[in-house]
Amino acid sequence: MSNIVVIGTQWGDEGKGKVVDLLTSGADLVVRYQGGNNAGHTLVVNGEQTICHLIPSGILHKDKICLIGNGVVLDPQVLLEEMDKLTGKGIPIDPTRLSISERIHLIMPYHKAIDNARESAKGKDKIGTTGRGIGPCYEDKAGRRGIRGIDLFEPEMLKQKIETNLKEINFLLTQFFNAEPLDFQAIFEHYCEMAAKLKPYIRDVSVQIDQAIKQGKNILFEGAQGTHLDIDHGTYPFVTSSNPIAGAVCAGAGVGPDKLHHMVGIVKAYTTRVGAGPFPTELLDDIGDYLQEKGAEFGATTGRRRRCGWLDLVLVKDAIRLSGLTSLSITKLDVLTGLETIKMCTAYDLNGEKIHARPASLNQLAQCMPVYEEMPGWKEEISSATNMEDLPKEARDYLARIERITEVPLSIVSVGPMRDQTIQLIDPFL
Ligand code: GDP
Ligand code: IMO
Ligand code: MG
Repeated sequence: MSNIVVIGTQWGDEGKGKVVDLLTSGADLVVRYQGGNNAGHTLVVNGEQTICHLIPSGILHKDKICLIGNGVVLDPQVLLEEMDKLTGKGIPIDPTRLSISERIHLIMPYHKAIDNARESAKGKDKIGTTGRGIGPCYEDKAGRRGIRGIDLFEPEMLKQKIETNLKEINFLLTQFFNAEPLDFQAIFEHYCEMAAKLKPYIRDVSVQIDQAIKQGKNILFEGAQGTHLDIDHGTYPFVTSSNPIAGAVCAGAGVGPDKLHHMVGIVKAYTTRVGAGPFPTELLDDIGDYLQEKGAEFGATTGRRRRCGWLDLVLVKDAIRLSGLTSLSITKLDVLTGLETIKMCTAYDLNGEKIHARPASLNQLAQCMPVYEEMPGWKEEISSATNMEDLPKEARDYLARIERITEVPLSIVSVGPMRDQTIQLIDPFL
């Protein structure tokens, strides 16, 4: 029995979905533990693309069980649409292979309204959220007025909570944000309708995981977002509202830390970011455009163009420390093909001093100059490589340098979006 956590080491979109789909062949259960449908995890199987926003990326393996833990914030409408889409593709979705935690917090229409009203009001200072109501839903959870999965079984409780919350929200919307109020009856009826469809899936996910562990099953925990979007450890306030780091698995799925064996960090071979916030290695030149176009760097959730830059190993080393990463998976190495030289940032220069961890102060971070190492690039196509010997020497040197600087072994190298475009060096389940 062995349990693995998959973590984004940068600002999200590292290719977690692809790696989770790949590793699912060795797992029995795949579990999401934080975030919501701000996530967009892309799987390409038999040439067909599927994007998972809420359902764990193991779902395409028909014999595996997927669980959505209490730490996730769930938009029931989005989940039902995602279930329908998958069913339409011939992927069976039923309560024997999908569970939702009773303790999960539900995203309500007023969370989306507040998310968007706040962003508009901020103008040029906006965070660039996905507008999916993620932050306001986590605010209500911490404010102890959230609506949970279990409330769908108790319509009187649901009614009372929505009524109470709407009084405050409608005051805010109309009096502060100059926006339209929301209608209680319409929301209540819609959620009662969705409750009927979702109830068979709602159960105690922590207990289900515990039972699986006792039966010796392998579990894969799928992180969403990335370490530097972490509410505590990210580039605050340009972050999401949950903890994508490995420690959050325990609270977000209801499992003890002694049950987590391998922490796999997903590292894109360069860096991207969607939305606003600092980005020391960002390239606002032709090379940035090259990475954006060749890597098809558009947000899987919002379709926004992703900002691109060189690989920043300061970020990756932070992620290693914060999640105790035991191996790294390098993705999108193929995108670097064709560049004359490739740079990687190994430290920051802050007013003449070399630093190796990202500072908390955004003012200090703005003064950090990336310290780069330059390496020769390669011209050969590598997207059909299946082992290290298939890669040109320059690509192998680039990978070896990452391994050397981070002092963490590489488990996977991905050279294309499809399952078989992969070099597997270590099977983390063994
Ligand atoms: P996630 O949010 O971490 O799951 O990543 P996304 O799905 O948002 O973004 C990663 C994108 O890169 C998707 O379009 C994937 O299909 C694609 N992708 C993943 N691995 C590779 C790779 O090795 N090479 C290329 N070219 N594309 C990849
Ligand atoms: P995956 O799981 C990339 C970013 C948003 C914004 C910030 C806050 O696909 O890697 P939010 O809606 O969460 O309040 O927005 O976080 N963001 C992501 N960026 N990938 C994601 O998920 C993201 N989820 C949120 O763009 O900057
Ligand atoms: Mg994504």
